[in-house]
Amino acid sequence: MKIGIIGAGMMASVLAARWTTAGHEVMIGARDVGRAKALATRLGPDVPSGTLREAAVYGDAALLAIWPTGVIPALLEAGAADGTLAGRTLIDCNNPVETGSFTLTTGDISLAEQIARLAPGSRVVKAFNQCHADVWAMEPPRFDDRSLVVPIAGDDPAGKDVVSELVRDIGGEPRDIGPLHRARHLEAMAAVVIGLLYTGAPSRTVFNLVEA
Ligand SMILES: NC(=O)c1ccc[n+]([C@@H]2O[C@H](COP(=O)([O-])OP(=O)(O)OC[C@H]3O[C@@H](n4cnc5c(N)ncnc54)[C@H](OP(=O)(O)O)[C@@H]3O)[C@@H](O)[C@H]2O)c1
Repeated sequence: MKIGIIGAGMMASVLAARWTTAGHEVMIGARDVGRAKALATRLGPDVPSGTLREAAVYGDAALLAIWPTGVIPALLEAGAADGTLAGRTLIDCNNPVETGSFTLTTGDISLAEQIARLAPGSRVVKAFNQCHADVWAMEPPRFDDRSLVVPIAGDDPAGKDVVSELVRDIGGEPRDIGPLHRARHLEAMAAVVIGLLYTGAPSRTVFNLVEA
């Protein structure tokens, strides 16, 4: 599968690497094309890079991995309002969490639903937002010999099929938790997780009350 990676930070880097290892083709897009190229070069000699818009139209799927306050501006720069993402699976891993009070910065609807409104025709799926990048970097993410369950939420069955495949390709077990409005709960749960991480809880086993 061809996957456009919108963003060149930590989550972009980790998931692009895992999917490349699984045999997918990725393209890195960022507002700073120099940073996109630097990440692409680290991933492999033939990995393409470019602008946010070029990454948006690259593949069947696109991962949106942008610092929360930049998600909507980046989506607009990627041409979402012009239909660049129409017909594509758009994976939203972003957590709209304010890191002082660890509360959501969104109003009545989730960030995922806002993204769906701004990217008409795209198949938005909320996924990969629940765990720290250190977990997604695990090859595979297994705990006590059990695969990590990865909740996904979305309104489009075909989009959820694509994301389920991408979850399995990194060694996770997809769990469909329902329509896109359920992303509100995934984002709220992430606010709790992030709050714990900021207290120094271990990034891979944040809910372990007792250290091994
Ligand atoms: N890190 C984690 O463990 C983790 C886990 C789950 C979910 N998430 C979510 O994943 C998303 C990315 O997190 P991250 O840790 O990968 O962040 P990061 O390493 O700080 O990377 C953020 C990326 O967003 C870009 N960006 C920021 N503002 C932008 C704007 N206005 N327009 C275009 N690009 C912009 C940055 O570009 P520049 O380099 O040019 O600034 C960079 O490429 C966040 O929404 C976060 O909540 C993170």
